[in-house]
Amino acid sequence: MDYIVPDKVSTVADFFDDLNLAIFLASAFFTVAIVGAMLYFAFRYRAKSSNDITPRIEGNHLLEIVWTVVPTVVVVVIAWVGIVLREKMFEVSPNVIPIYVTAWKWAWEFRYPTGKRTSGQNAELVVPVNKPVKLVIASKDVIHSLFIPAVRIKQDAVPGQLKYMTFTALKTGEYPIFCAEYCGTRHSYMMAKLRVVSEEEFNTWVNTIPEKTMPKRILGKKLYTDLGCNACHSVEPSVNLVGPSFYDVFGAQRNFKDGTSLTADENYILESILYPNKRVVQGFNENVMPSYEGRLSQEELMALVSFIVELKTAPKEELVEVVFEKDEKIDLEKMTPLERGKYLYSAKGCNACHSVDGSQLVGPSFKGLHGARREFADGSSVVADDSYIKDSILNPNARIVKGFVAAMPSYQGQLNEDDLAGIVEFIKSLK
Ligand code: CUA
Repeated sequence: MDYIVPDKVSTVADFFDDLNLAIFLASAFFTVAIVGAMLYFAFRYRAKSSNDITPRIEGNHLLEIVWTVVPTVVVVVIAWVGIVLREKMFEVSPNVIPIYVTAWKWAWEFRYPTGKRTSGQNAELVVPVNKPVKLVIASKDVIHSLFIPAVRIKQDAVPGQLKYMTFTALKTGEYPIFCAEYCGTRHSYMMAKLRVVSEEEFNTWVNTIPEKTMPKRILGKKLYTDLGCNACHSVEPSVNLVGPSFYDVFGAQRNFKDGTSLTADENYILESILYPNKRVVQGFNENVMPSYEGRLSQEELMALVSFIVELKTAPKEELVEVVFEKDEKIDLEKMTPLERGKYLYSAKGCNACHSVDGSQLVGPSFKGLHGARREFADGSSVVADDSYIKDSILNPNARIVKGFVAAMPSYQGQLNEDDLAGIVEFIKSLK
C-alpha cells in the first residue's frame, strides 16, 4: 500500500492504516456483492415476454435476520475498533516533552520549554525519534487544525481552549504538516514541517537558542508579578494565600465546591485564568479572583500557563528569583515615600485588586480614596485618612466597604512603618 498512502512514522500509523484498509476492503466486498447481485438478478430474471408475471414473494425470516445481523455486527466491530484507535490517538502522556503550538492566520508556531521557537515560513516541528512528545495546541484567531499525515493524527486548534496531541515518531526524516480546517484565503499555504531527528541531534537543536528568544515561562513569571497574581497565589509548595499555591496545581487532583473534581492540566489552568469562578476549589472563596478574559493576549495566556505548568521542572534559580525578586536588588531606603509606595503597589500585588484609574476591580479603586467618606456594610462611615488607610492594609477585613467582599489578605508583618507611609503617600497622589 506504500505507494498510495503517505509515509508513516508514528506508533498508531499501522493501526490506522490497517483499520482503514479493513474498512476499504469491507466496503469493496459489499459494493461488488450488492451491485453484482443486482446486475445478475436484473439479467437473470428480466421479463422475457410481455405476459411474464412477477411472482408474489412473502418474505423470508432467515434471510431478513441474516441481512440485518451481519451488517450490524460488521458496523459495531468497525465502531469498536475505531473507538480503541481513537483512544490511542488522543492518549495524552503527561510526563513527556511539551511543545506549545500556536496557530493564527496563517502560520504555525512551535515553542519548546528551552525557549527554542520556530514559526511562519520556517515553522518546523522538530522531535526526537522514539520519544513521545506532547503538543499543547492553541489558536489566536479562528479554528485551525494541525494535521500531520505521517503520524496519522489531526487535532483542532481552537481559540480560547487548549487541545492536545501526543505521538511517538518512529523514523527519522522530514514530513509535511498541513492546516486541515478552512481558515481563510491563505489556508492552503498554512504549512509546516515535521522533522524527526536522533535524540542527540534534538538535544543540540533545542538548546541552540538565538539571543532574545526566551522560554514562555519567563514572560509568564514577569506577568505573575506584573499582574499581581503573586498577591493571592504563592509559588511555594503548600503555601496557600487567598488563592491556591501555583506550585501544587499542575497534575494534581482538584476538588471543587460543587463536588466535582479533575486532574489539573493546561486547559484547566487556562480556564481558571479566564473564568476563575466557574470551578472553585474547596476551601477557597468564589468571586474573589477577577476574570482575565479579554485582558491578556494569546501569547500572554500561554506564557502564564507554561509558567505554572513548569514551576516544578524549571531550573531552580528561576523559581528562587521569582520568590525573592521583589526584595532583591531594589533598595527601598533610597526611595522617596511616594516612589516606595508606588513600587510596593505593584511588588505586593495591590494592583491585582485595586485600580489607580477609578475603575472597580475586586477592591475599591485607589484613585480619590484619600479624603473620601467610606461607608461600611454595617452602616457606619469614616473619612479615609492616613490611619484609616494603614489600618485597612493591616486589618483589611475589620471594616468592609459597602459593595465589596472580604477578600484581602492582611499585610501585618509584611510591611514596616515606612512601607505603610509610602503606600499612603502613593494613594494620596492619586487624586
Ligand atoms: Cu489554518 Cu486552515
